[in-house]
Amino acid sequence: MDTLSTSIDAGANMIVFRGISKSYGSSVALHTTDFAVRKGEFLSLLGPSGSGKSTILNIIAGAVAPSTGSILLEGKDVSTVPPRERGLGMVFQNYALLPHLNVFDNVAFPLRIRGVGKSEIQQRVRNALERVGLTGYENRKPREMSGGQQQRVGIARCIVYSPSVILMDEPLGALDKKLRDQLQGEIKRLHRDLGTTLVYVTHDQEEALNLSDRVCLMNGGRIAQLGTPDELYFEPTSEFVADFVGESNLFEGVVQSIDTVLIGGNWTLKVRSTAGHTMGSRVKVLVRPEKISVVESEGSVIETGDAVNECTGVISQISFGGGMTRFELTTGAGAALLVKTISARAVERSPMGRPLTVRWSARDSAVLKK
Ligand SMILES: Nc1ncnc2c1ncn2[C@@H]1O[C@H](COP(=O)(O)OP(=O)(O)OP(=O)(O)O)[C@@H](O)[C@H]1O
Ligand SMILES: [Mg+2]
Repeated sequence: MDTLSTSIDAGANMIVFRGISKSYGSSVALHTTDFAVRKGEFLSLLGPSGSGKSTILNIIAGAVAPSTGSILLEGKDVSTVPPRERGLGMVFQNYALLPHLNVFDNVAFPLRIRGVGKSEIQQRVRNALERVGLTGYENRKPREMSGGQQQRVGIARCIVYSPSVILMDEPLGALDKKLRDQLQGEIKRLHRDLGTTLVYVTHDQEEALNLSDRVCLMNGGRIAQLGTPDELYFEPTSEFVADFVGESNLFEGVVQSIDTVLIGGNWTLKVRSTAGHTMGSRVKVLVRPEKISVVESEGSVIETGDAVNECTGVISQISFGGGMTRFELTTGAGAALLVKTISARAVERSPMGRPLTVRWSARDSAVLKK
């Protein structure tokens, strides 16, 4: 986790939270939080409704005053600096465009209130609209545009004054899936081109994993885990993270040795490592469904040098989609195992009720930290 103790070089950080918390009366929206957003990174705040994502964003923006702590922007304490003077750009879910102004004037608005000259406004607005693919729409009113187009105006209005940090709160939340995918790509490209620091709120884990350099997963007003998409997916630090990010098989068991966990009293699961857990303690083991492969024929050779887990069961549920076969295997011990595989051959040959053997490497069996 990128807490202050690990971020040695303060200069590499764009935003730093020092002991920031937020309470409304007796209810805590954000528990005491230390964290840092690196210069130029795309960081997503992910988490269920009410977990504190918007609270963090609004504290960065200056729209919400923290109850405790201080906030640094590029090393400077901005705790008492009003929102407009923080030099941040904001994009909202509901676009927040001025309905009586046309596209040009909406995008020009932040420049006008900053007293930018007429000809520079002309050029910068043209530039911003070009970046979001809206050249030619200057005279339209917001109501004459689709949701996706309105959000592009919202983004143009944000980038037009070249903020050093862009904050986006569920900017694609109001759009349908196809448009969301398209705009996701555009936002990612924009971030790459502009090189600004971007903090992005979403409750869609796929969106967060696709877009971000790092993801900060929130739970109940606390950071559950902050790391790269890969770290959250393959090395979750808790059951909450494992469950929230992607699909998972979770086995409960007891630590037996440095590389085995006893599940349900009679099944020894070979795991990556039980380091950090005492013998006999209860742990959860995570196996991602796409790490499990079907044993194509009996006695087929194991290719890897790793220790391998193998089990046999019968298929209970099966679905094909998106180039993947997804099925549930009910094992002899009664455990249900979710498997995702690209190769459907063995599964197709194995009708419901006929035994099927699957295996996965000990390396892909991660013991969750406490
Ligand atoms: N002005 C307020 N007064 C009282 N409680 C508030 C206020 N704003 C937020 N909260 C509470 O703080 C908690 C965190 O809210 P926040 O808006 O940060 O959640 P969120 O993660 O953005 O959720 P969502 O995905 O629904 O937008 C919630 O329990 C919310 O009810
Ligand atoms: Mg929110």
